[in-house]
Amino acid sequence: SDDHDHHDGDEHELRVSKIRNGTVIDHVRGGQALNVLAILGIDGSEGEEVSVGMNVPSDRLARKDIVKVEGRELSQDEVDVLSLIAPDATINIVREYEVIEKHRVEPPEIVAGVLSCPNAGCITTSGEPVDSRFEVLEDGVRCDYCGTIVRDEIAALIDT
Ligand code: CTP
Ligand code: ZN
Repeated sequence: SDDHDHHDGDEHELRVSKIRNGTVIDHVRGGQALNVLAILGIDGSEGEEVSVGMNVPSDRLARKDIVKVEGRELSQDEVDVLSLIAPDATINIVREYEVIEKHRVEPPEIVAGVLSCPNAGCITTSGEPVDSRFEVLEDGVRCDYCGTIVRDEIAALIDT
């Protein structure tokens, strides 16, 4: 049938197996998948079941990365930081193989406590009990305390 022919094509395209229960982070900017894993604190050492596709062809982006995490949902903090390095990402919640919820990430106005300021003289990095706080700009983040702006290397600021 038509339907079968249509799905034949999809099977050729499927590079990473479907998951049963968990989260699929789709439409991640090509090359950012390892940073997504860093944000989620996933390095494989705890037996996490994770699949990663890098630089796979995509309709929406020229090339995309995709990260599938079995048995895990994401916190709002994690999604907030993801939005900074993967602004076009889609978060898909999967239950019993079905996508039951899908939403685009949205950049927050502020990210607090998850990035560390690269300025060694900043009060947030000088051992004082002050949580980091960054204002989210259109093309980067700005430390609320010292004004340092970071545009391209946001992933390097992730506290792990
Ligand atoms: N997915 C998965 N395991 C499942 C269900 C879905 O890994 N059990 C993946 C799909 O491979 C896809 C993503 O989750 O990469 C979203 O699934 P779906 O909404 O079915 O795909 P699309 O309609 O193509 O999504 P979009 O419109 O967001 O591109
Ligand atoms: Zn600072």
